[in-house]
Amino acid sequence: MGSRFAEIQALSDKYLMNTYNRLPVAFVDGRGARIRDTEGKEYLDFLGGIAVSVLGHGHPALVRAIKEAAEGVLHTSNVYYIEAQARLAARLAELSGLDRAFFANTGAEANEGAIKLARRYARRRKGEDRYKIVSALHSFHGRTMGAMTATGQPKFHDGFGPLPEGFEYVPLNDVAALEAAVDGRTAAVILEPIQGESGVRPCTPEYLQAARRICDQRGALLIFDEVQTGIGRTGKMFAFEHYGVRPDILSLAKALGGGIPIGVFLATEEVSRGFEPGVHGTTFGGNPFATKVAGAVLDVVIGEKLPERAAALGAHLKARLERLDGVAEVRGMGLMIGVELEEGLSAPRVMRAAFERGLLVGASGDAVLRVLPPLVISEADADEAAGILEAAIGAVREAAREESAAAKD
Ligand SMILES: Cc1ncc(COP(=O)(O)O)c(C=O)c1O
Repeated sequence: MGSRFAEIQALSDKYLMNTYNRLPVAFVDGRGARIRDTEGKEYLDFLGGIAVSVLGHGHPALVRAIKEAAEGVLHTSNVYYIEAQARLAARLAELSGLDRAFFANTGAEANEGAIKLARRYARRRKGEDRYKIVSALHSFHGRTMGAMTATGQPKFHDGFGPLPEGFEYVPLNDVAALEAAVDGRTAAVILEPIQGESGVRPCTPEYLQAARRICDQRGALLIFDEVQTGIGRTGKMFAFEHYGVRPDILSLAKALGGGIPIGVFLATEEVSRGFEPGVHGTTFGGNPFATKVAGAVLDVVIGEKLPERAAALGAHLKARLERLDGVAEVRGMGLMIGVELEEGLSAPRVMRAAFERGLLVGASGDAVLRVLPPLVISEADADEAAGILEAAIGAVREAAREESAAAKD
């Protein structure tokens, strides 16, 4: 008889659509930043389900909130009032300085709704030809048609055309290019304050400040996609706080549920008037279960001062990673870190070597490792992760040396 993992792998390979390159592992339980697989091997989780598990695994307050929420009404419908949804909207409005929220289930859906709101607002208030959405090259906004089209990477569009019209792309941190692209037909500019998927690339303060100014001058809206950066990850509740620039629309997801699927976009009172009953909606978005749990996640993020913790531990971890042999550059803010490797070192191979040594990190393209641990990690966890990465980089460098020596023979 095969192992439990072998059975999971065989079922996955046979019955799931072939959309993911997976590492050969399935996890069953965890505590804090530690997670255990079906065979009992423990890993240090420094990917956090790609910036989702802010409270780590098995956080007692989260487990309690989930149990309590499950005992209440799980789901009703948005044709009724939902107490937890209303309370969460009020808290997010207070925290972000925006006024109204619409709850969805994922980051893509939050961005899809944000784009719809921007277009509807702009076309009704500023004229029918105000529909253009400007986004950055190398951005990532999700996989639904609108969010995918806003994503400035052709590889994600391949084979899915015809794409919705009216999307335009500009190089990141190029103010002149943004000046040239935003015109009287632009409904909105959508930006990640720190691009995540494409390798942790922060916007410069000058760029985001210029984006605000250009949008204001030309009557376009500014959307920040904080699906990955939001809820404490970068050392502030929202990354835009580092820049002193507030968007008109803000999308969030990932960390907001601590592992329960939830997304949301918030907007100013004025922009929210782009919607009216019947024009946008969802069955599941903002249901009692998801919004109660997200409320408990916010309690812990604020109560345990996790943004401050992310700032302090991020600085510590960055300093450790910068000293590693084979590391060309360390980018990011708080516990959203990208590690650019020196030429000749493959990030996917280092990721795999770290995995084999019990550390989970991500890879972006060939050269960048993504480090997105739970915000509850300790300094000792950070040091241990840096040690494992050092060993992994060393092993990959050694293997590459042997391969090139063998090729010469
Ligand atoms: C910045 C950003 N926006 C949107 C998304 C899409 O979110 P989801 O996968 O929940 O649809 C992601 C996911 O990685 C993201 O990083």
